Amino acid sequence: MTYCLPPVGDFISPFAVFKELSALKCGLFRGSNMAYAELENKVATCFSEFFSIDSVLWYGSGTSALYAIFKSYREIFIKGELAVSAYTCPQVISAAIRAGLKVHLLDIDPCSLEIRLDNLSEYPDIVLLSNLYGLPDFINESLMQQSLIIDDACQGLLSSRAGGFLGAREGTIGVASFGRGKPLSGLGGGAIIAKTSELENPESKAPILLNSIIEKKLGNNIPQVSNSFSLWIKSFLYYYFSSPWLYKIPSSLPFLGLGKTEVDLDFPMEELAYLQLATVYTQLKAVERYKTIRLKNSSKWEEVFLRYDLTSPVSVRKQKGNLSIVPLRFPIVCKSSKQRDSLYLALLKAGLGASKSYPQVLSKYLEFKIPQVRHEALDGAEKVANCILTLPVHSGVRDVDFERADLIIKQILG
Ligand SMILES: Cc1ncc(COP(=O)(O)O)c(C=O)c1O
Repeated sequence: MTYCLPPVGDFISPFAVFKELSALKCGLFRGSNMAYAELENKVATCFSEFFSIDSVLWYGSGTSALYAIFKSYREIFIKGELAVSAYTCPQVISAAIRAGLKVHLLDIDPCSLEIRLDNLSEYPDIVLLSNLYGLPDFINESLMQQSLIIDDACQGLLSSRAGGFLGAREGTIGVASFGRGKPLSGLGGGAIIAKTSELENPESKAPILLNSIIEKKLGNNIPQVSNSFSLWIKSFLYYYFSSPWLYKIPSSLPFLGLGKTEVDLDFPMEELAYLQLATVYTQLKAVERYKTIRLKNSSKWEEVFLRYDLTSPVSVRKQKGNLSIVPLRFPIVCKSSKQRDSLYLALLKAGLGASKSYPQVLSKYLEFKIPQVRHEALDGAEKVANCILTLPVHSGVRDVDFERADLIIKQILG
């Protein structure tokens, strides 16, 4: 059997989900809308307590949660432009375009991966903070007075800045995702999260928006989805095939598209399924353990790369203080694309879970070469797309993997 670490991990055992459902006295399958609503309330209470928020609205994916915000914005304020990093998940842009918003792609700092908001001539209507790989983006106070800030915590739900979990920071509307390879690695799903104080803040556009989104949600009859059986199977497959001794099998099946970045303007708009909810709940119970491991593994990668004079954006951000970074993957921006490609190929061949992340800046996707999307020079984002390498920090990474990686890096850079 070939050893092959998956780039992302920490999937929860389906038996643990089963145990939690039994403890909650909930069935294995959805059964009725009543059963769904009961589980939804229990999970929402636990989720809200953990993240110190008061509002959580569940969606079928992070993309559809973003779409709900963008669509309500468009309906209330008629027009608007979203300012967003040119190097992030393309589905963010798909959601904005589908909702009828314009998009302004902004450059990023290649050392910190932070969005560059400093050179804007006017305040954007909406600013989306991507918090890439779990690195907390800075919230500019004056911008917060003028623009709607969306704190996209799809990759950074477990990190915090100035005391607030990403997605749950004051003055913002947060978005979470529970997809494969997210901080709460689940079976898919997403949420809009916010503090009630946001509903009372007369200075911000967030209350009008949140109230309209909540109203729409309440008017929605949850469709009867009976996909729990296939989700149970998916749960077994995710859990067992994320073992480094089995991962080679799914990773060599091209139709699974593992690690591929897709652009889909017709993304499905579904409700969060019963088993997806139960998985989020079970993940939350185990999250402290995963957090500790990710922090420890991130520090180990940091040590390895510093030995070869490569500073990670994780170290750069740490210098900005008062934040806790729980990375989704450990990012390193190499000195050249040639250096990145050599490291990537060697680490991949050794089965160490290296990934090149998103293949290109968002302005290069054909789907986004349209008048609705504008951008200026994107030198920083281009540099990142060409030179970034990300490494796994999940609980499947062993001490010996760091030692093997160190030897490989030494051969190439030493
Ligand atoms: C930063 C970011 N935002 C939004 C999304 C969309 O989330 P989902 O996959 O749940 O639709 C992703 C997904 O990778 C993401 O990385």
